[in-house]
Amino acid sequence: MNGPVSIEVLRQHLIDPEICIRCNTCEETCPVDAITHDDNNYVVKADICNGCMACVPPCPTGAIDNWRTVLKADAYPIEEQFTWDVLPEQNTMAVPAADDSPGAGASGDTSADASGIEVDTVRGAVVPPWSAAKPYVNLYTHKAPTTATVVGNYRLTDSTTDSDIHHIVLDFGSMPFPVLEGQSIGILPPGASADGRAHHARPYSVASPRDGERPGYNNVSLTVKRVSEQHGDAIDGVCSNYLCDLKKGDVVNVIGPFGSTFLMPNHPNSHLLMICTGTGSAPMRAMTEYRRRRRLKGATGKLMLFFGARTKEELPYFGPLTNLPKDFIDTNLAFSRTPGQAKRYVQDAMRERAVDVANMLRDDNTHIYVCGLKGMEDGVLQALREIGEQHQMDWDALWAKLKREGRLHLETY
Ligand code: A2P
Repeated sequence: MNGPVSIEVLRQHLIDPEICIRCNTCEETCPVDAITHDDNNYVVKADICNGCMACVPPCPTGAIDNWRTVLKADAYPIEEQFTWDVLPEQNTMAVPAADDSPGAGASGDTSADASGIEVDTVRGAVVPPWSAAKPYVNLYTHKAPTTATVVGNYRLTDSTTDSDIHHIVLDFGSMPFPVLEGQSIGILPPGASADGRAHHARPYSVASPRDGERPGYNNVSLTVKRVSEQHGDAIDGVCSNYLCDLKKGDVVNVIGPFGSTFLMPNHPNSHLLMICTGTGSAPMRAMTEYRRRRRLKGATGKLMLFFGARTKEELPYFGPLTNLPKDFIDTNLAFSRTPGQAKRYVQDAMRERAVDVANMLRDDNTHIYVCGLKGMEDGVLQALREIGEQHQMDWDALWAKLKREGRLHLETY
């Protein structure tokens, strides 16, 4: 006679290839390295994922939050996930009822908490500020994009530099495309990759405020750097070159909007501490411009900006930024390659302004935004720690509070 048959069931974590914008956030966030990618898809290794959920809140599209109940022995291998264009349907096989909540024991008999890993491994907040407006996300997808017309394309960086950064304005005409400062949109470049698959969308942060690049118009602006090299090798960035070469009147396929946490507070006495490099200035421009427009309607919170670039000639928006009134925004620029001057990073500039940064850190109305090069994230967090501790603040406690309250947002790449 046969003994009882043990059927191990897995709540398998999967990523929806139709919605995913390949922004790498999940792979960076995963504390156990269960997520990987190839040129086609981001995928989850079933034998490593422990369902800790750390990757779910930071995902800008929600593509990460997909689960299928499968027999453990039949879990989809990553080689198969790499080939998917759409997720498989939930198999209707008879399996014991599983807890439907996504975080529930992703590895069948193993509790999600067994590893002791908590969502707290994420370095920034996974919730928006309490007063942020409610964002729309995923109104347009890879399968059903919308179109926008190019109404402007201007080079932002000095013609004497190799760094080619453009300010591109896209108009949606009569199609609804509501965006908030801090959100991004996806651009679908035409054509296909070497294996014949259509290019995936590339995400770009919106550089304009919610009421339009031009107030009252249904348009957005983007800050795009032409990518011509990566890790020292010459490459042609498919989407950045496409965007930087666009002419007025060209029509672009767009998806999105994306992002539901890197959003600005809306209470008028909230302070913004913004730290960025290069094109990471896009969301800071959007927030600053919104506050500039809103200031006329009574916003009183402080704005403090730390902005790093190689030289003044390579800093996007240098002219308009330096013309903003000093009593509106406290702007601190850090240049790393000005001939004859010492290399200076944003974190150096923050240390020089430690007393004022500390005053902002002490205030519960302060919201911190960091956007730009991956490398600066450590440096900026370290500078915040040092400044806090020099001013008798317990940084670890403050850091946890900032995250809990949706007041520390990191977007680096
Ligand atoms: P660097 O001169 O060392 O490259 P980019 O032009 O490549 O987008 O970079 C924008 C700015 O960010 C540059 O001034 C660059 O300096 C600077 N940067 C590079 N690495 C870091 C880092 N780890 N922390 C802060 N800033 C950085």
